[in-house]
Parts: sequence; structure tokens; C-alpha cells
Amino acid sequence: MDLSELLREVLKNFSPYQPGEQPIGDGWIKLNTNENAYPPIPEVIEEIKNSINDKLRLYPDPLALEVRKAVLNQLLRDEDTLTNRNNVFIGNGADEIIEVIFKVFVDPGNEVVFFYPSYGMYKVLATLYNAKINEINLNDDFSIPDTAFSAKGKLLFINSPNNPNGKSIGNATILKLCSNFPGIVVVDEAYADFSEQTSLSLLKKVKNLIVVRTLSKGFSLASLRAGFALADASIIKEMNNVKLPFNTTYITQIAALACIKNRVKIFEQNKKIIEERNRLTQELNSFEGVSVLPSDANFILVKFNDKSKALKFLWDFKDKHKILVRHFSKPRLYPYIRITIGTEEQNNKLLDVFKLLAVKYL
Ligand SMILES: Cc1ncc(COP(=O)(O)O)c(C=O)c1O
Repeated sequence: MDLSELLREVLKNFSPYQPGEQPIGDGWIKLNTNENAYPPIPEVIEEIKNSINDKLRLYPDPLALEVRKAVLNQLLRDEDTLTNRNNVFIGNGADEIIEVIFKVFVDPGNEVVFFYPSYGMYKVLATLYNAKINEINLNDDFSIPDTAFSAKGKLLFINSPNNPNGKSIGNATILKLCSNFPGIVVVDEAYADFSEQTSLSLLKKVKNLIVVRTLSKGFSLASLRAGFALADASIIKEMNNVKLPFNTTYITQIAALACIKNRVKIFEQNKKIIEERNRLTQELNSFEGVSVLPSDANFILVKFNDKSKALKFLWDFKDKHKILVRHFSKPRLYPYIRITIGTEEQNNKLLDVFKLLAVKYL
């Protein structure tokens, strides 16, 4: 058998998504994949433990009805947004939701628009679905260039706050993109729980908008895979039609419900991450030759004036101090390292090591 004869054409030169390293063994300070600095709160852990029961014999609710209701009636109760459960889709994390959107809208050759730099999965999925890719370069300050307002296509992805720089995109910009774009605009708000901005209010008047959220970041649930999307009921119906039947597990649904129920306590905990983000930004900005981009997320992007220094810091952090941060070997991102905000203790360690490396390299 010649596998290369059997493979789909698109896989012959395919670059898969490169997840950040998940190290084996203890003692690492993991600031490379934008996970929440804190574990799920005890109330959530308790509910997860209780969900290990005889229900595991059964298939979970395919439409996650209880979670959809909780999203609307509790989590988004005070938001000015859609209010009907037919407007909510529950997925196996934001990644699955994004793929479901491709399944609904993208035939081979259809145009898909997204920005660079941004989250890598848009390109991976656009490639897998044989889309025609329009990857628009963000301006030097990571803002959206004017050319985006005349883009055409089936899907346009906006990531707000944008990974890797961390800045939110304003609603006036999102609204203008929605008005000008002939297809569906997807706003990936994976990090919105750390930002003061959200596009949720636009959903009431804009029909070609899907807002995607996740419990991976703001709710410390990355491992259990839960996210939701809000959109016009006609879009959600199609998404539910094409998803795999049991896309979220019973345990995940119970955990999601517990997160939503205990959201006030969780948001209080996230405030510490936001405070630490502001502290780290200030402290790192005081180093000569280094600047931190303003961030609304649980990570910061640090720029080295001398771009050769970024990798030196990355390797010393890892090899000598067991601290993992993220570097992207892509042309525009070469001078940067992205650092997930850790606990106060982890951040203190990071700053101590940064000081040592600054003496050595800066
Ligand atoms: C911008 C963005 N969207 C989506 C995701 C995926 O989130 P989830 O864990 O919900 O699949 C990530 C994960 O890093 C992300 O950075």
C-alpha cells in the first residue's frame, strides 16, 4: 500500500497546528499555553467528583440543554445579548465550535478570511476544508487594516482579545466588518473573561455574527473541553445538525454547570490574574530593550528590541529554570515571547529569572 496515494490531496503539504509544549514531570512553571493560573475552585472539583456515578453508563444529553439554559439565565443574565436557548450552541471547547462553523459554511474553494498574527487554528481548518485563504496582515500595532473592510468571503474570523498580542477589538470595528462582509463574521472571544470588552451586545442587531466563548481559560476547565457559541437561531440550528451527536461528556456538562453556578467566586479569582497582568506589564516594561504590548487577556506579548534575544531568553527560561514561555518561529513574531500570567508566586519567579537574564543578555 502506498499511503501517499490514498491521502487527501490537502494533507500532502499540510502543517498541523503546533500546540505549546505540555512537559512531563513535576517542577515546571508553565506559562506557555494560556491556561488559567488557578485550578478549578473546590466547589467545581466537588461536583466533578460527584459526577463519577452510574450516569456514566448512559450517553450524555446531545444538546446540553441544562448548560444552554445556565449560560443564558445565569452566566449572561446581566449581559445585553440574545436570550433564547435556540441562540446557544454548546461545544467541545472553542476549537470544536470553530470546526463546526466550517462544517456548516465552507465548501471547497470558498473564501475564508482571518488575520495574521492570530490564533493558528483558523488557517489549519481553512486548509483542511480546502478553503481559499485570505490571510490579512494586521498593522504594525496589531490593529485591523482598512483592507479588511472590503474583504469578501464565506467566513471572517476576528479574535478578540487577539492571541498572541492580547488586545481586544472595539465593537465599532466589529460592527463595520459585519456590515461590510457578505458572509458570517466569527468573533472568537476565548479570552474575553479577562477583558472589559465583548461583542455580545451586537448579536441583538447583527444577524451574520457568531460569538464563540470557552470555559478553558476563564473557568480553568481546559482539560474538560467546554465552550459555547451565541448566534441567530437559524445558524445554531445548522450547527447542531452537523456536530457529532455527543460532543460534550456528562462530566463536562456537570462541570460547566458548576462553573456557571459559582461564576462570581471564579471571576473574583480571575481579578488576581488581571492585577498580576498589570504588575508584570509594568515590571517588564522597566527593563531596557524590552517592551510589553497592552493586553486584555491572561497573557502578555513581550518584545525584544534586539530580536536575537527572544530565543536566548526562551531557552534559558526552559533549560536552566524550568519555566516554559512561548515563542513563534514566524517572521513577524521572531522578536517576541508570549508569557501566560501565572500565580503571584510564579510571576515573582519569572521576574527574578528575567532580571538574571537581563544582566546576561540585555
Ligand atoms: C484564540 C483562541 N481560540 C480558541 C482556543 C481554543 O480554546 P478551547 O480550549 O476552548 O478549544 C484557544 C486556545 O488556546 C485560543 O487561543
